[in-house]
Amino acid sequence: MATSRTSIRRSNSLLGVIALTAIAHAELPKEGPLGKPASTSQAGFVPAAIPEDNPQTAAKISLGEKLFFEGRLSVDGSVSCATCHDPDKGFTDQRTTSEGLRGQHGTRNAPTILNAAFNELQFWDGRAHTLEDQAKLPLLDPIEMGQKSGADVVSALASYADEFQRAFGRAMNFDDVARALAAYERTQIATASRFDAFIAGKANVLTTAEKRGWQLFQAQCATCHPASSMFTDHAFHALGLPIKGLSFADLAEKGQKLVNSGDPTALDRAALETDMGELGRFLVTKQHADIGAFKTPTLRNLLVTQPYFHDGSQRTLWGVIAQINPKLSGSELDDLVAFLATLTSDRYEAAGKQELARQRALYKR
Ligand code: HEC
Ligand code: HEC
Repeated sequence: MATSRTSIRRSNSLLGVIALTAIAHAELPKEGPLGKPASTSQAGFVPAAIPEDNPQTAAKISLGEKLFFEGRLSVDGSVSCATCHDPDKGFTDQRTTSEGLRGQHGTRNAPTILNAAFNELQFWDGRAHTLEDQAKLPLLDPIEMGQKSGADVVSALASYADEFQRAFGRAMNFDDVARALAAYERTQIATASRFDAFIAGKANVLTTAEKRGWQLFQAQCATCHPASSMFTDHAFHALGLPIKGLSFADLAEKGQKLVNSGDPTALDRAALETDMGELGRFLVTKQHADIGAFKTPTLRNLLVTQPYFHDGSQRTLWGVIAQINPKLSGSELDDLVAFLATLTSDRYEAAGKQELARQRALYKR
C-alpha cells in the first residue's frame, strides 16, 4: 500500500507545481477565537513545565501565535502549522493522514497541539524531546513545509525582524523561531471539561451511563491512560494493530540501518514517508520490544481530534475501543464512549456533541 502511495506522490508532484500558483495562500486556516491563547483560570488546569531558556513572555507568545498561522514558514507559502493543526478542528486536520505541500500525504495522523505542553516526548514515536525541538522538524520536512535549512526559514521571515528583536532582544535566528512557536503552543491548554467539574465535586454533572463508563475505564484502561491530568502514562505500547500486510522483521532490518545514521531529519523522513513509520518507537530506540509501539495519546478532546490512532485508521471511538479490547460488550463500549465524551473541554462543547452523534450513527449503521 504505502509503496504505491510513494509512486503516486512522485507522479503527482509535477502536476502539483503547475496547480500551485492558483492554490497558494488560498486555504490557510485563519486564527479565529479558538486560536487565541487560552485562559489559565480553567477547571482541571495544572501548570506545565517551561524550559529555563524559553520563559513565557507576552511578546514571544504573540509572535509565536502569528508564526503558527504564517504560510511563509513553508517553502511555497501554501502550508502553515495551522494547516495541519487548525484550531477549528481541535488543532488537528481531522484527516486520516496529513496533507502537506502539493497535496502530499505522510503516513501519520496529526495529533492535537491542545495540551501538548504536557507531553514528556513529542510525536507518536517520541522522537522529539521538547516542543522547541519538535517545531523545527515539520519546517524542514520535504513533504510538510519543505524549507531547505533553518537559514532559509529565517530569510523567509525577514519582515518579522523587529518583532524577534523585541521578543528575544537579539537578531532573528532559527532556534528562536522554534522557541516562539513552542511558547504559543504552551498556551493551548484545554481542560475545563464536565469530567473536571465532576472531579472537583459536582457529582450531578455526569449521567449514570457516563459514571458507569468512568468505573469501567478505571478497571480497563487506566494502566496506560492513568486518570491523572492528561490520561497518559507517557510511555509506548504495541497494541498489535494491523499493519496492512507488511512484515515487521523486514521493516526492522531497514530501520536498523537508518537509526544507525543518527540523523534526526533522516529519522523524521523515514517515519513520515516510508513503511518504516509502522515500526513506531523502535526507530528511535532500536529496542526489539518497541517494534510497533506508539505513544499513549491523551484522551482529552477526542471528539474534535478524529480520526484515531497513529495512522488515523479508526473513525469512531467505538471502533477504537473495540479494537483495543474486543472482549467488551456493546453496552460497555457505549458507556466507555460516554465517559470519554465528558473529557471534551468547554471550548469544544458544541462541536463535540455534534461529532458524538455523527460517530454513533456511523458505528451503529
Ligand atoms: C503537513 C501537516 C503538518 C504540518 C504543516 C505541521 N504538522 Fe505538526 N504534526 C503533523 C503530524 C502528521 C504529526 C505526527 C507525526 C509523527 O508523530 O510522526 C505532527 C506532530 C506534531 C506535534 C507533536 C504532538 C504530539 O502529541 O506528539 C507538535 C507539537 C506539532 N506537530 C506542532 C507543529 C508545529 C509547531 C508546526 C509548524 C512549524 C507543525 N506541527 C506543522 C502534521 C503537521
Ligand atoms: C496497554 C496500554 C493501553 C491500554 C490498556 C489502553 N490503551 Fe488506549 N491507547 C494506547 C496506545 C499506545 C494508543 C495509541 C496506539 C496507536 O496509535 O498505535 C492508544 C490509543 C487510544 C485511543 C485513540 C486516541 C487518539 O487520539 O488516536 C483511544 C480513544 C484510547 N486509546 C482509549 C482507550 C480505552 C477506552 C481503553 C480501555 C478500554 C484503552 N485505551 C486501553 C495504550 C493503551
